[in-house]
Amino acid sequence: MKHYTSINDIDNIHTWIEEAKALKENPLQGIELGKNKTLGLLFFNSSLRTRLSTQKAALNLGMNPIVMNVSGDAWGIEFGDGTVMNGSTAEHIKEAAAVISQYCDIIAVRAFPSLTDRALDESEYVLESFKKFASVPVISMESATGHPLQGLTDAITIAEHAKVSKPKVVLSWAPHVKALPHAVANSFTQAMRKMDVEFVIANPEGYNLNPVITGDTPIYHNQEDAFKDADFVYTKNWSSYEDYGLVDNIDPEWMITKEKIGEAKFMHCLPVRRNLVVEDAVLDSDSSLVIQQANNRTFAAQLVLKKILENL
Ligand code: CP
Repeated sequence: MKHYTSINDIDNIHTWIEEAKALKENPLQGIELGKNKTLGLLFFNSSLRTRLSTQKAALNLGMNPIVMNVSGDAWGIEFGDGTVMNGSTAEHIKEAAAVISQYCDIIAVRAFPSLTDRALDESEYVLESFKKFASVPVISMESATGHPLQGLTDAITIAEHAKVSKPKVVLSWAPHVKALPHAVANSFTQAMRKMDVEFVIANPEGYNLNPVITGDTPIYHNQEDAFKDADFVYTKNWSSYEDYGLVDNIDPEWMITKEKIGEAKFMHCLPVRRNLVVEDAVLDSDSSLVIQQANNRTFAAQLVLKKILENL
């Protein structure tokens, strides 16, 4: 594997989950693998978990991580081809990616979508430009349309906590006050469709995800129907895909409550807004797996780094 920018880069999710669990058992087993190798982490957007867990993963492999908040600290990067750079951008991605490739053996990038121009967002121009102009492997730390480190994490967490051989997993939309991306929901959907689970999605009318990603996954517009016999309820808000980036529904009836999820385990990628997305009674109970999920971010990232390092 050269790059890791999509759940589709996983050849066998079952094998990957077992490998990640083995890394978790003995996190320093590959401490020599990344010796004298540098991981560059480039953030165009905020992060807590991705930023820390990916550095931790690199350190567990003996790598040297270096971090840059690109939006705040670097020169404004131009991505357009042939642009007359007489505006706010000062450096072209062609030079920036080539230069960073001399300092780093692997580059990890976080770049969120605009949520105003669907075609531009779906072109994944930031991630694709790094892949095109960098001479080293590229990892997505969440792009416009996917969050594959999170999706792998979630698959590992479900495998660890499943009590039956084919659990029912529900991805449920929940209300939020801001327009949020589809990336986490997309990668979770892609991961679940590779797993041996009964997978369904619950969201209001007008909030169906990209049908190319959901495929034949059953979509409910009634949470109660979707949650029946659920083993896991994975919750995330996303803005409308059909009316791209629109937020015209913050219906509190879609908030996750203890009563609604019953015996199911609750999952969320974090950060989460309490008592808007999910009530305190869920997060503060044994039903919640959010802290265990966040812990698994390290081992998902470590597995991805390990596979890339083994291929350098
Ligand atoms: N889940 C996740 O990606 O968290 P951060 O945005 O804090 O990195």
